[in-house]
Order: sequence, then structure tokens, then C-alpha cells
Amino acid sequence: MGLGLAFESSCDETGVALVENGRRVISAPLFSQIAMHRPYGGIVPEYASRAHLEKFTPLLAEILKAHPLAPGDLDYVAVTTRPGLVGALLVGYQTARAAARHFQVPLIGVHHLEAHLAAVRLSGHELQFPALGMILSGGNSAIYRLSSVGQTELVGDTLDDAAGEALDKAAQILRLGYPGGPAIEKQAALYLERRGFLTGEEAKLDAENPFPLILKSLERERVQFSFSGIKTALLRRFDAAKPEEVPALAFFYQDRIVEHIVRNLAHAIGLNPKRPVIAAGGVLANQRLRRALSQLCEKLRVPLIVPENQFCTDNAAMVAAAAELYFEAGLKSPYTEISSNNGFA
Ligand code: KG4
Repeated sequence: MGLGLAFESSCDETGVALVENGRRVISAPLFSQIAMHRPYGGIVPEYASRAHLEKFTPLLAEILKAHPLAPGDLDYVAVTTRPGLVGALLVGYQTARAAARHFQVPLIGVHHLEAHLAAVRLSGHELQFPALGMILSGGNSAIYRLSSVGQTELVGDTLDDAAGEALDKAAQILRLGYPGGPAIEKQAALYLERRGFLTGEEAKLDAENPFPLILKSLERERVQFSFSGIKTALLRRFDAAKPEEVPALAFFYQDRIVEHIVRNLAHAIGLNPKRPVIAAGGVLANQRLRRALSQLCEKLRVPLIVPENQFCTDNAAMVAAAAELYFEAGLKSPYTEISSNNGFA
């Protein structure tokens, strides 16, 4: 059991966290660059690197002011090393390396996807093995078999876009701004309410969905996500002259995406029965998706563990939660070097 100081900078969130035992968050200041990237409709990598460079020092100072660390207090420094924007990762890596040298503790490199899954530890759950791990974020959509710490095997990933990317691009088409996931979710909820239905009654509108089911036939054979076809379908349907149709399009688009994810997970569970499911990543902040996954796992009688909303999107506390797994087991993390490679091994 250790005290870890963690750094996250793989994309557009700058995070530093002081976490005890990989479970209790002592302090986790986070700077979101969302407003900075918004005018561009997506992340500008060079701006992201520069903002990380500017923000790490004040965030770290904020932690150390409230919790001064004497030599010997800290057990390790952790940092996301892959995958991500290389320039952004590099800023976090150099900052973490300097901190590890200063406190004379080991530096533990963490895989971003493992950190997303380990986020469940921050709300009293444990990463159980063996398990199925599903990650749905802005850059990744995949399901893994988790055998033990650092040992994973891909069950299926995406043919094209990631789920979060599909939501971000849809929001761009519908002119709802960035990030798209929360904006689409809001419009979809608005539409449901306008139609006089309660949360949880989305299926009652299924027959009206103008979007086709995604990869229906392929899903029978393998676990495989695809989000680019529905994005094109949305592009074709959207008529900028009819802004009143935006909530309906957002609702039906989100519903098809949720349905596709649910069917893929059901298939993965069928191939890997009785394993608990850990579902994580920014898209899990979506309440409609969380409810749909709960219903599925209840029906199939497998436990479902999802991080608290605040730890679904990128943050540094989850990096400490993952690093602690290596620290406690006395294992060396294989993710010691910066890499754009997603190899989750
Ligand atoms: O995990 P994350 O913070 O960053 C990556 O590692 O990619 O995920 C960001 C993604 C974005 O695509 C964003 O639109 C999506 O998560 N997201 C959501 C919601 N909140 C964030 N998607 C659906 N519903 C939400 N409420």
C-alpha cells in the first residue's frame, strides 16, 4: 500500500493527483482544456502540449501547498505513457520524471486504458480478475479479456471511429459544439421529454428511428464496433435549415450507438461467460448508456462495474489507481517509455 503522485496529459485534460493506496483521493486538481479547443471543433495537439506545460506546475503547487510532502512520504510517481498525443504525453512524462527524481521514488508508467479501467478502484470497487474490460472514449472503443495486472487480450475493437469520436463528430454536424457526448445527451433527453416519455422509456420510440442498425450481421460472428456509417447517415439526413429537428436526430443517433454497444457487449459476454464487466472511459459518463448496460448485465447475470461519473473522463487519480496495482504486486510496469502505440499487453 503506497502513497502515489500521478500525472495525466495524454489528451486535453491536465491532471495531477495525490492518492493513497490507489483508492483514496487526497487531492486531484484537474485543468480541462475543452474551452480552449472548442473554437476548432476538436483538439489541436500543439495547443494541448503547450497548455499542459503551463498548467502542471500550478496544479502540483496546489497539491503541495495543502499537503506538503517530506522526503520519504511518497512511495512512487505515476504517469500516463501511452497511448495519446505524443507531444502532450512527453510534457507529462518529463514533469513526472523530474518529480520522481526530486522525491527519489520510482516512476511507474501507466497505460491510459488500464488507468480508465482502474478508475473503478476510486469508488470502493476492485479490479477483479478474470474480467471483461470495455473502454469507450474519444480515442478508443474496445473490449478486452483481463487476466491479471498488465495481462490483457483484445476481444474486439473498432473498424473505424471510436464511440466518443462518433458523438463528437455528430455534434459538429449538428452544430452543438465540443465535446459532443454531453451535448448530444442533453438534446436527446430534451427530445424524450418533449415527446412526453420518461427516462428509461426510450425503446418506445424505436420503431421511429430513421437510422439503420449498425453492423447487424457482422455482430453475430465477432465483437466489432463501427461508428462511421451512422455518422455518414446523420450527415445525409441533417438539413441545416431545420434546426428544430436537431433534438430528434441527436436522440435517435445516440440510441443507435447505445444499441450497438449493448449488442457488442452481449456478444462478448456470450463468448466469455461469467466474467464481471468493467466498463470505463469518457463515454460511460452517458446516463442512457449506463442504464442500458446495467439492464443487459442484470439480464445476463454478470456484475457490472463502472467508475463514478467524475472519474470516467480523463483524470490523474485513475493513473495512480492503476500504478498502485503494479506497486502492490511488486511488478514492473511494461509501459516505461512514451509511445503512441496502443499495444495493451
Ligand atoms: O476518456 P475521455 O475523457 O478521453 C479519452 O481518453 O478519449 O473521453 C472523452 C470522450 C469524448 O469523445 C466525449 O464526447 C465523451 O468522452 N463523453 C461523453 C459524455 N461525456 C464525455 N459521451 C457521451 N455522453 C457523455 N455524457
